[in-house]
Amino acid sequence: MPKDNKEIAREVARQYRDYINPDLARVMRVTGLGTVEDHASGCFVWDNEGRQFLDMAGGYGVFCLGHSHPKIIAAVKDQLERMSLSSKVFFSQQQAQLAQELARITPGDLQYSFFCNSGTEAVEGALKIARLRTNRPVFVCTEKAFHGKSTGGLAVSGRPNYREPFEPLMPEVRRVPFGDIEAMRAVVDEDVAAVIIEPVQGEGGINVAPDGYLPALREICTAKGALLIADEVQTGFGRTGAMFAVDHWNVVPDIMTVAKALSGGIIPIGAVIGTRDVWQAFKGRPLIHTSTFGGSPLACAAGLASIRVIEEENLVEKARISGEYFLAELKKLVSAYPDICAEARGLGLMLGIEFTEEKYAGLIIAELSRQNIIAVYTLNQPKVIRFEPELAIERQHLDRTIVCLKEALQNAREFFANR
Ligand SMILES: Cc1ncc(COP(=O)(O)O)c(C=O)c1O
Repeated sequence: MPKDNKEIAREVARQYRDYINPDLARVMRVTGLGTVEDHASGCFVWDNEGRQFLDMAGGYGVFCLGHSHPKIIAAVKDQLERMSLSSKVFFSQQQAQLAQELARITPGDLQYSFFCNSGTEAVEGALKIARLRTNRPVFVCTEKAFHGKSTGGLAVSGRPNYREPFEPLMPEVRRVPFGDIEAMRAVVDEDVAAVIIEPVQGEGGINVAPDGYLPALREICTAKGALLIADEVQTGFGRTGAMFAVDHWNVVPDIMTVAKALSGGIIPIGAVIGTRDVWQAFKGRPLIHTSTFGGSPLACAAGLASIRVIEEENLVEKARISGEYFLAELKKLVSAYPDICAEARGLGLMLGIEFTEEKYAGLIIAELSRQNIIAVYTLNQPKVIRFEPELAIERQHLDRTIVCLKEALQNAREFFANR
């Protein structure tokens, strides 16, 4: 007998428990949506029971182009029929073209790309290249930062409970509060290989760099001969209402890391992009850092199509306009519920609400999911929920989110008042 949808959901949860990770299965049952994802299109995801969810989380920054964009699917299908993974013994036209496109759209003199498959691999590559280029031992990073969970990425990330079980990690890491330029000035010296920074901290709670901070940091790095690494894994490709978040402040880093939206939401890909000077690191040792799958023809075809769509569909400008509108609406709600909400903040369509207490965040996410809207926490700051929908999201969906959020806030107020 064919299984019904509820049975399938129970079976998948059981398989998670028995074959993936028992504790993860439990957490997913409590905090997740409880059913099984089935298909997705634009700003919607459907579960296996046919319920349609408005995706206001956007895969933590992956789905700038929405789900299943037809132009990316067409480009990937075409490439799939020809060749998906590289032989690694020929030149790859797709990889060469994507590198040239990244040089065109990234700021200043960023020029060379190394391709990998994820954000943390891009960060890992950036740290290694910075060390090679400078011959210096120290990295500077910021509190609450998130740069991934490989050992290098973890070493420069903020949240102690992800990091400490694996220590000792990279030994010489200096950590300073995000946004405090004097703290930076105090630790960046001639031993520092690089400062790594997210222009808008994503997992740290949607923290936008204060005006003047990144330009001043650029100056400090230049003065001390340290490289500036901008981690644009989450902020890149229009998410913040500029092609890259550093563009808001006209800052050109020495190295940039990208991933998430470069995939067009279809095939994973990441990249480290550096200047001609930084790429001296590879001189005489071109194979010192490599990846078997990185920069496959299939992933690069997705990346090329993705950049084309972002430009053709004017997604950066759409994100800027929708972001301003949505943030203004979120701020009205924050003013109406000051007992629950501390602040609404963000840039473009990378927005968050900080609650006065952690307990509200969980309840609001659950209330929104009950109303078929997906929203998520930020990993390193669980008092904050964030909204990162597709960049072309229509006004009606933003308005619906505000209406549902208002109801959720009202319910949360009543729920905790009666305890
Ligand atoms: C700024 C930043 N860097 C790095 C990463 C790690 O990316 P991945 O999960 O693809 O390894 C993330 C993931 O959220 C991120 O937001």
